[in-house]
Amino acid sequence: MKRIFSGIQPSGTLTLGNYLGAMTHFVDLQEDHESFFCIVDQHAITVPQDKLELRKNILSLAALYVAVGLDPKKATLFIQSEVPAHAQLGWMMQCVSYIGELERMTQFKDKSDGKEAVSSALLTYPPLMAADILLYKTDIVPVGEDQKQHLELTRDLAERFNHKYNDIFTIPEVRIPKQGARIMSLTDPTKKMSKSNPNPKSYISMLDEPNTIRKKIKSAVTDSDPDIFFDVQEKPGISNLLTIHSLCTDKEIPEIVEAYQGKGYGTFKADTAEAVVNKLAPVQARYAELIHSDELHQILDDGAAHAGKIAGSMLQKAERAMGLGRKRK
Ligand code: TYM
Repeated sequence: MKRIFSGIQPSGTLTLGNYLGAMTHFVDLQEDHESFFCIVDQHAITVPQDKLELRKNILSLAALYVAVGLDPKKATLFIQSEVPAHAQLGWMMQCVSYIGELERMTQFKDKSDGKEAVSSALLTYPPLMAADILLYKTDIVPVGEDQKQHLELTRDLAERFNHKYNDIFTIPEVRIPKQGARIMSLTDPTKKMSKSNPNPKSYISMLDEPNTIRKKIKSAVTDSDPDIFFDVQEKPGISNLLTIHSLCTDKEIPEIVEAYQGKGYGTFKADTAEAVVNKLAPVQARYAELIHSDELHQILDDGAAHAGKIAGSMLQKAERAMGLGRKRK
């Protein structure tokens, strides 16, 4: 069975973008892959975090993983900092990375742009991400479009390591969904929907109340011409809502376009909002049951123990390949 690995940062609330671009695919893939889903808290601290909030967000993400339908019997769910091999191999992958290639990462450029105090870890974020993936001999990494460049670098680093030291790493494939790989902001549909945007109207949180979702979609930025059709250049706002509508109802976009001919944006937006509300309702209900349960802690303990075994053995191989430590008799 092929292995998949993916991770999500527990930084703030998760968005509809995280859900439609990544999590729904995790749920499908767990059926016929050996799966690892990580809460990457060490990635989250590359930018300042409030410690109490971070702890809350870590558990909240664990609850969301289970609430969307990830089954701990089928998939390993765990917290990155509870498996020390990630940081250890992360360091080693930094040693095979070049500053120039890390500076070229668009996420680094975006996140450091205009800031005075930028942590060095924001630059060395991708080698840690490479370590996450390579520790599990991952075959496939399901992610949204924005992670593509990091995955290309991961492949380069793995190939470089294999060539220079020993051929131990599996070269992972990136899997980006055909639809929903880049859900856009509701206030500026030319930018991706992101939980780090300070304006909460720009994104839908997976835990937003139904009325909040309705208000946000109602006020989503569109154009003034009332025709509904899919064209990202000409109609970025409407195209984004069509994508969201399609993914939340399992209807194809042409079918939706046809159904709303001549009906105007008001009806289309109201129905899109209902589709989102209905899609998130079961997730939110399950989340409420889980968030204060002991079940969650057991899942994370088991996950860290299982992940730790696999990661630990790969770490040892990598250390041996690089010549770290002592040779024992
Ligand atoms: P993060 O936490 O920013 O996002 C988690 C996942 O959600 C996807 N995503 C989106 N998809 C569609 N539309 C959007 N607007 C949108 N916003 C986010 C992301 O592409 C991602 O798949 N560096 C990663 C976390 C990470 C990781 C890993 C991922 C760390 N180690 C190893 C895969 C494998 C990140 O910051 O994702």
